[in-house]
Amino acid sequence: MKRVFSGVQPTGNLHIGNYLGALKQFVELQDDHECIYCVVDMHAITLPQDPKELRSHILDIAALYLAVGVDPSKSIIFVQSEVPAHTELSWILTCSSYMGELQRMTQFKDKSKGRENSSIPTGIFTYPVLMAADILLYDTDIVPVGNDQKQHIELARDLAIRVNNRFDKKIFQVPEGRFLKEGARIMSLDDPTSKMSKSAENEFSRISLLDTDAKIKKAIMRATTDSDAMVKFDVENKPGISNLLSIYSVFSGKSIETLEKEYEGRGYGDFKKDLVEVTIDAISPIRSRFEEIRQSEELLKVLDEGAEKANAIAEKVLKRTYDAFGMGRKRK
Ligand code: TYM
Repeated sequence: MKRVFSGVQPTGNLHIGNYLGALKQFVELQDDHECIYCVVDMHAITLPQDPKELRSHILDIAALYLAVGVDPSKSIIFVQSEVPAHTELSWILTCSSYMGELQRMTQFKDKSKGRENSSIPTGIFTYPVLMAADILLYDTDIVPVGNDQKQHIELARDLAIRVNNRFDKKIFQVPEGRFLKEGARIMSLDDPTSKMSKSAENEFSRISLLDTDAKIKKAIMRATTDSDAMVKFDVENKPGISNLLSIYSVFSGKSIETLEKEYEGRGYGDFKKDLVEVTIDAISPIRSRFEEIRQSEELLKVLDEGAEKANAIAEKVLKRTYDAFGMGRKRK
């Protein structure tokens, strides 16, 4: 069976972009793959986090994994900081990476825009190497993610190939990204030219998985569209309605073409009303499952068992890596 690995940062509530780009794939893959899903708290601290909130968000994300349908009897779910091998491999890979390739990462460029070098946190710069370590540590074949992670996966592949070539031996499995056709890049509802994000100021720019039905309705009814009132997919000229069509399509399972036909000549009002319904139908069961799971002792047990299983796999790959580099004499 092919191995799948992915992770989500515990930096606030997940939105439908996270769900449609990544988590939906997590669930789809678990029946015929060996899946490992991580709450990447080490990534979250690249920016300052309130410790109390971080502790709580870690459990929120783990509970959301379960609430969307990740099944701990099929998949491993664990917290990154509970498997020390991630930071160990990250250092080894840092020593195999170049400043130039990290400087080219668009996410780094975005996050450091307008800042002096002296005030850019080093963690933001080296973050993609930690992500590569996450992936390579599990001999991962497939990484289900949204489009914004494409360049980071490319780096993980480059590092794997570089180390393998250096020792003329297969130390790391070279992973592949997996991106959905629709859903890989859900855009902001108030500005459809930028990606939906957890941190945008306007809360109506996104729909979070734990939003109330009323908030979902308000966010969709307010979503930016254009003035010609034609439900047509055209990202360049009609980014707002195209984004809503993508969301509708993944939630309903209907193709964009089918939806365009269904709403021909009917305007945006009808379309948005139906989209509200489709979205609420998909999200409200997640919300109620979340409330139950988040309070349960079961959640902690899942994470304890997950960390144990993840550690066992990771230690083997780390040992192999130490051996290749000529270190880790006492590692078992
Ligand atoms: P994060 O926490 O920002 O996002 C989690 C997942 O959601 C996807 N995503 C989106 N998909 C579609 N539309 C959007 N608007 C949208 N916004 C976010 C992301 O692509 C991601 O799949 N660096 C990663 C976490 C990570 C990771 C890993 C992922 C760390 N190590 C190893 C895979 C493998 C991140 O910050 O995701």
